Amino acid sequence: MSSVHGFSSTAAVALITGAGSGIGRAAAIQFADAGCNIVAADINKVAAEETCSLIKDVECLAVCCDITQPDQVAAMVAATKDKFGRLDYAFNNAGISGTAAPVHAMPLEEFDRVLSVNLRGHFIAMQAQIPLMLATSPSPAIVLTSSICGHQAHAGMAGYCASKFGVRGLVKAAAVEYGPRGLRVNSVSPGAIATPLLLDFLASGGGDTVKQLTEEGATLDDPAGCSAATAAPTQAGPQGGAATGPSGSGSGKSSSSSLDVGSLNLADAPASAEASAALSSTSTAAAADESSKEEGKLKVPLRRVGHPEEIASCVVWLCMHGHYVTGTDVLVDGGSTCRVMTSSD
Ligand SMILES: NC(=O)c1ccc[n+]([C@@H]2O[C@H](COP(=O)([O-])OP(=O)(O)OC[C@H]3O[C@@H](n4cnc5c(N)ncnc54)[C@H](O)[C@@H]3O)[C@@H](O)[C@H]2O)c1
Repeated sequence: MSSVHGFSSTAAVALITGAGSGIGRAAAIQFADAGCNIVAADINKVAAEETCSLIKDVECLAVCCDITQPDQVAAMVAATKDKFGRLDYAFNNAGISGTAAPVHAMPLEEFDRVLSVNLRGHFIAMQAQIPLMLATSPSPAIVLTSSICGHQAHAGMAGYCASKFGVRGLVKAAAVEYGPRGLRVNSVSPGAIATPLLLDFLASGGGDTVKQLTEEGATLDDPAGCSAATAAPTQAGPQGGAATGPSGSGSGKSSSSSLDVGSLNLADAPASAEASAALSSTSTAAAADESSKEEGKLKVPLRRVGHPEEIASCVVWLCMHGHYVTGTDVLVDGGSTCRVMTSSD
């Protein structure tokens, strides 16, 4: 293998977690379009393999990995080293929404589950990735996925908000530690993006709970979201969707078909995890856009939900072009976090 300044001159390698669906899949495709070889990792092996089947002209390694399990994460990085001999970019993106409930009614195990994937899992992934990146890449970069919930409060989403605020702290600490070695670490914060994660959350009734808590507040005798929170914790679904929700398997429509979570209104989002996963990002975004316009309540300044590809392009830029950018977060949210309060707020 030839080398430049001690590093391999083969194509750069991008590793993406949660690559079997939504934003992660879009990122895998865009890194491949930029000439990178790909490691597509997901807890859902079939979904990761599907992502690889969409990638042409470069190599793609599908890896089954639960990012909450350090041994699986170590094996993922070892497989990357064995296959490609280097790791340049890591997009730690796998995440779950969790179920919506007020703080006092949220089971501790549900809080722990969300933190375990969305924050601790990213930490575990970075621990395994950094040594290989420093040893094999001339210009390494890591991007983690935060959220608008890492910038703003969202009622009923304490665990999710805590995990996403935590991601931004993790990014800043790592950026300071590894900047002197040339490793950049940033995060991206999506707004409402039409993916199975969002659609399954809505279909499970999570949006209704958030809306109720936002408008009425939590009460101790009849806590909003209690029924949701006491249902069995949801798991990553067979299609890679995160939450099939408190109503069981996401087999029915939400009791109310609209959600207004401060900046977002999606009405009539596809109900089941299967239906959500079967839809392409383009068609789901179009459906969400259409129904939002019908209600006329969409408060995103750009007046639409986002596409996974619009997050992916930011991630690719941060890794491959933002050479003086580290320790920061980029909001890709259609302006939803800077909206002006109105008389109806
Ligand atoms: N969709 C949105 O509106 C939105 C908004 C803000 C932030 N985000 C964040 O974007 C990221 C990607 O979400 P998405 O919308 O593409 O969701 P998605 O459900 O389409 O994809 C998430 C992927 O992560 C995988 N996954 C879940 N748990 C895992 C684990 N323990 N180990 C490995 N893989 C696991 C799933 O199988 C799935 O393929 C998440 O971190 C999410 O919190 C999404």
